[in-house]
Amino acid sequence: MNKILEEILEKRVVVDSKGKEYPLHAHTSPEQGEFLSQLVTQVDANVCVEVGLAFGISSLYIAEAISKKTAPRLISIDPFQKQYWHDIGRLNLERAGYSSFVEFHEGSSNLVLPELLANGEHIDFAYVDSVKVFDALLIDAYYLTRLLKIGGLLVFDDCDFPGVKRMVRYISKWPHLLIANKHNVYRTTLKWRTLSKLIQIIPKNRKIFSDSLVISDEKLGTNATCIAFKKIAEDERPWDWTCNF
Ligand SMILES: C[S@@+](CC[C@H](N)C(=O)[O-])C[C@H]1O[C@@H](n2cnc3c(N)ncnc32)[C@H](O)[C@@H]1O
Repeated sequence: MNKILEEILEKRVVVDSKGKEYPLHAHTSPEQGEFLSQLVTQVDANVCVEVGLAFGISSLYIAEAISKKTAPRLISIDPFQKQYWHDIGRLNLERAGYSSFVEFHEGSSNLVLPELLANGEHIDFAYVDSVKVFDALLIDAYYLTRLLKIGGLLVFDDCDFPGVKRMVRYISKWPHLLIANKHNVYRTTLKWRTLSKLIQIIPKNRKIFSDSLVISDEKLGTNATCIAFKKIAEDERPWDWTCNF
């Protein structure tokens, strides 16, 4: 593990350019960091995108995993890096010796990702750990899937948050994606399982109810807090494609 990352995780504080200390928070756990690192290695990634830099913890894991490649690139996006995170994420990547291959965009992912696509970028891996709002995340999923090479991975954090859960349930139905890996797998609540069992008794339940009431996260495979989707084909859905989710 990189010395800077090790030190931050041990002391649980981060330091700005003037030496002022802040408590570490809102970061990816070391277990999930290792999970990301393994995924990056698994797809032999060169070009990675991260949405949500904050203090740079997940970035440090991803950057370390690609640092030995001949032409690594980490494209990092965060509109609040200066305003809220005191530029510490960027500083940590610099302190760790990775700044030569980190490209930072201080803007919202919903605006930056379409620009990357228009510029003809192709990526191997993406990690999204930002807002938990269904539509904002769906826009990111749409563009990141287009940016990804076939075989590449798209990873979402906090998939147990209502907005994220709904979004991952939807994209799990896309024929061009496949759930490839999961971290922190959970079981749906007893309340939900009981309600679902009752709904199953009702004839034509799939026609009446939304899939989120009939098909459990376990059945769909979206029962984890961190989910990696593999792009298995280009998006060639017909113009009127839809699904119950
Ligand atoms: C939970 S933190 C990320 C933690 C980081 N992955 C880590 O492990 O240290 C969420 C981040 O998303 C950023 N964010 C919020 N809205 C965003 C947007 N529209 N585009 C990109 N990043 C966004 C926030 O500024 C914040 O840095």
